[in-house]
Amino acid sequence: MKTKLDFLNMKKNHEPIVMLTAYDYPSAKLAEAAGVDMILVGDSLGMVVLGYDSTIPVTVEDMIHHTKAVRRGAPNTFIVTDMPFMSYSTLPDALKHAKAIMQQSGANAVKVEGAGSVLQVISSLTEAGVPVVAHLGLTPQSVGVLGGYKVQGKDAESARRLIQEAKACEQAGAIALVLECVPKQLGEAITKQLTIPTIGIGAGVGTDGQVLVYHDVLGYGVERIPKFVKQYTNIQQTMQQALAEYVADVKTRQFPSDEQSFTMNEQQWLALYGGKQS
Ligand code: KIV
Repeated sequence: MKTKLDFLNMKKNHEPIVMLTAYDYPSAKLAEAAGVDMILVGDSLGMVVLGYDSTIPVTVEDMIHHTKAVRRGAPNTFIVTDMPFMSYSTLPDALKHAKAIMQQSGANAVKVEGAGSVLQVISSLTEAGVPVVAHLGLTPQSVGVLGGYKVQGKDAESARRLIQEAKACEQAGAIALVLECVPKQLGEAITKQLTIPTIGIGAGVGTDGQVLVYHDVLGYGVERIPKFVKQYTNIQQTMQQALAEYVADVKTRQFPSDEQSFTMNEQQWLALYGGKQS
């Protein structure tokens, strides 16, 4: 399994870091087999797996439950687990919930969104021995405050603020920084000014790595594909067609055929009904 030091070396050697979200055993197995460097058990699971319309309802218990399944599917991959909404709004809560995630789920690190008072969370968790990934730019847990899912840091003033916040996250001890939905120039500028790796999503090609949501990459269960996503297949179409064929086969008694059926030998069948029932 890769470690924090491997990721630092990858940055130094300009080797792109691949991160992908996963939420359960089969998605984790596929991610590991594909060779991703890091798995993120994102609180995006609230939307893509649990059917909520935001990440806000996701709980620490949800994150632990899904991370355990991901760990079973990807025993050899570095796993980052999101700390969900309001689970780190006070330091005691942050420590308590990070402890639960690290001890119970098999995660290697936690991720928290924002700077400001979150910087203290990053440094306290780091001091306590918890590796922390920071997350700046579009931070979905604050979507109500940000006024929607919008690109961040588009003007010089907000870009300058993001650069300062990124440096402060590094200073506080973050092992990596997720940068979401920022102009590509800013993604690259922040990457050049940090020693820790940056992992971009909608942040251009100049970050040290990229992360995408599993369901977006595969076209699975998603209705709206954001601009920054490259969808590599539309697995949903294949799945929908297969399910429709199954329904039709059952309705027309084409399934199960003899191939999918078990038989009793003739002698036993006769012993049961004396050959009287056909
Ligand atoms: O929850 C998530 O999947 C994330 C990524 C979008 C970075 O935070």
